[in-house]
Amino acid sequence: MNFNLSGKTALVAASSQGLGRAIAEELLKEGANVMICGRDEEKLSGVQEELKSIGKGQVNYFKVDLTNNEEIVTLVDHTVKKYGGIDILVNNAGGPPAGSFDTITDEMWQNAFELNLLSFIRLIRESLPYLRKQGGKIINVASTSIKEPIPGLILSNTFRTGIAGLSKTLAGELAKDGILINTVAPGRISTDRTKHLDSVRAKAQGITVEEAEKNSKANIPLKRYGTPEEFAKVVTFLASDANSYMTGSSFLVDGGMIKSL
Ligand SMILES: NC(=O)c1ccc[n+]([C@@H]2O[C@H](COP(=O)([O-])OP(=O)(O)OC[C@H]3O[C@@H](n4cnc5c(N)ncnc54)[C@H](OP(=O)(O)O)[C@@H]3O)[C@@H](O)[C@H]2O)c1
Repeated sequence: MNFNLSGKTALVAASSQGLGRAIAEELLKEGANVMICGRDEEKLSGVQEELKSIGKGQVNYFKVDLTNNEEIVTLVDHTVKKYGGIDILVNNAGGPPAGSFDTITDEMWQNAFELNLLSFIRLIRESLPYLRKQGGKIINVASTSIKEPIPGLILSNTFRTGIAGLSKTLAGELAKDGILINTVAPGRISTDRTKHLDSVRAKAQGITVEEAEKNSKANIPLKRYGTPEEFAKVVTFLASDANSYMTGSSFLVDGGMIKSL
């Protein structure tokens, strides 16, 4: 299938590495212009260099802290000035710290709310005038915790379900504008975040990181972690014209890890 995104502009949040970077790369392969962003200018400039000759479209970067509303406003403004509009918004962010209820302070709750839910709300709000122009796509990166809470990740479990609720509600409100919004939920995809969480589990259980990874893979029917590219292909499909009738849905990319229907 040809997703052909030539002439489209995509803003991909938190895309200096991991899932966001892979999504930017797949969108570029399909011909889109892509704006990547994150807090580290040097890292972003390196990714731009690596990705610049991939597709027909351009890749540019903008340094942003997604917990800061003014910076989000400037990011959207900059993207529109650079490319003339926004057709695809991919909401993504860094993961919140692990921990159980007793270990989480008010400040941690507030930070996770701002990074993992409010940044999505703000990016959607700022991008909507452009997405509304000719109908657009919004894809939210969440977690399988929207289907089954993950022990020890109470911050993630709480705010990812907010993303799913926001997305479902907006699917109804934005359909009249031709905007389709969906959520994609990674299970265990090989990135720095997965390595970090394996080391947290290893420490908590008194086992090695290798053992924690092995146990984790044993629980996945496909017996391996996914690649960022496998995840990004699903996002790219949802962002393309090939998706014309799916909105308000959540899609798991988890190798069969979640057992519920
Ligand atoms: N990988 C998985 O299997 C998996 C599973 C479930 C959920 N998730 C969730 O999916 C999201 C992406 O995961 P990942 O594996 O790609 O994580 P990752 O490798 O840790 O990448 C996180 C990205 O977010 C950026 N970021 C973090 N805080 C930011 C901020 N305040 N402002 C702007 N950018 C920020 C980071 O760049 P800078 O640090 O340079 O700013 C980086 O580009 C995370 O929320 C993660 O928890 C991932």
